[in-house]
Amino acid sequence: MQSRPLRLGLIGCGYWGPNLARTFLEMPEVSLELIADRDPDRLDRIRSRAPLVGVLTTDHRRAFESDLDAVVISTPPETHFEIAREALLEGLDVFVEKPLATRSDEALELTEMADDLGRVLMVGHIGAYNPAVQALRTTIRAGELGQIRYIDAIRVGLGLFHPRLNVIWDLAPHDISILLYLLDEAPTTVSAHGIACIEESVEDLAYLTMRFASGILAHVRLSWLDPSKTRRVTVVGSRRMAIYDDLEPHEKIKIYDKRVSSIRPSETYADFQFAYHYGSVVSPYVELEEPLRSECSHFVECVLERTRPITDGRNGVRVVQTIEAAQRSLRKAGVEVPVADEESSFRDLPDPASSRRLAHLPSLVPLSVASEGEGASVLELPTDVPTRTVARGASSELAGRGPEAG
Ligand SMILES: NC(=O)c1ccc[n+]([C@@H]2O[C@H](COP(=O)([O-])OP(=O)(O)OC[C@H]3O[C@@H](n4cnc5c(N)ncnc54)[C@H](O)[C@@H]3O)[C@@H](O)[C@H]2O)c1
Repeated sequence: MQSRPLRLGLIGCGYWGPNLARTFLEMPEVSLELIADRDPDRLDRIRSRAPLVGVLTTDHRRAFESDLDAVVISTPPETHFEIAREALLEGLDVFVEKPLATRSDEALELTEMADDLGRVLMVGHIGAYNPAVQALRTTIRAGELGQIRYIDAIRVGLGLFHPRLNVIWDLAPHDISILLYLLDEAPTTVSAHGIACIEESVEDLAYLTMRFASGILAHVRLSWLDPSKTRRVTVVGSRRMAIYDDLEPHEKIKIYDKRVSSIRPSETYADFQFAYHYGSVVSPYVELEEPLRSECSHFVECVLERTRPITDGRNGVRVVQTIEAAQRSLRKAGVEVPVADEESSFRDLPDPASSRRLAHLPSLVPLSVASEGEGASVLELPTDVPTRTVARGASSELAGRGPEAG
């Protein structure tokens, strides 16, 4: 009995989509069958890099007629809800780039829909798939830093300016999702300040301050207008401190054995020094794997094993809720705004480290499919994926055709 590779479609092939296409094309267990982008020039550009993709189309709905198992959506955030909704209703498993949607009610609707339909819904919060961030989480959970006091994150550089969505929508999903992942806790309040320097009313600099029920304070600095690219997270605990610097080629994490005990009033220098502890700086070895590769592998694994992704719809909702609160704060000159649904803490959600099997997702049954050619992995796909209307031959009929006009 031979099973077939996972049949995948990619919708949106602008700046980020080609990276997803490249990654999935390198995975033997995946067959990238279709790329849709409504801009024919984008399709022309990807054609030479992905000559084996059978369907290149300007109409994303072709993804619903091509007998696919799953789609990856890498279109602008404002379009995520509609496209993901259509895909879920068509019975596909869905990977949506960050943010899941631009409204939390829409993000919630997608999440509930995926649950009801028994589909995998994953959000591209890539930080959770970065081995260095995973190592930092392990360090925190092992108590090596002691009680976490605060986290400071910086994500700045001369960025790609977006015409409509501000720097918070663009960059904060990364840092908020990293905070959720590191702390297993969502912020309860946010205050945000920002200014629009280049495009009117589109903030290109923002400072977010978040409070957590556990007492942790987090600050995130985001900018598309900074001379020096920086991607750094500082975690300060009661015992030790850590810095994660994503731009470091090797030693991405450094743990500083530094702390300060409560300083008593003293007249001597020795007493003063006693309050400060200076120990070694250690950089734990982290086996480097491309985060995008492990993110894409995780999606494929969840589809095949019918398990809930680490960055599932609920995780996506938490991030969008936090951004919405930040936007409200921004419009109110930085006033502290509660994050919606604060009472349902992240701790209520399944622990990513524990079993993520979704009982209601279709169980795996070996699927017998005609040979897909040499090199195709033997995989088992669920059989009860709702059937779509177009026969399997549809994609090969289109192989080699140019981009379609609509
Ligand atoms: N994980 C990361 O590090 C990372 C980095 C950059 C962008 N992103 C995310 O990737 C997504 C895409 O961002 P981008 O920078 O590539 O944007 P982009 O504007 O460069 O590309 C989006 C593409 O989608 C196409 N498109 C729009 N509507 C479409 C539709 N209905 N059907 C088919 N194609 C459609 C556009 O023509 C465009 O080519 C966003 O959600 C963004 O947040 C993630």
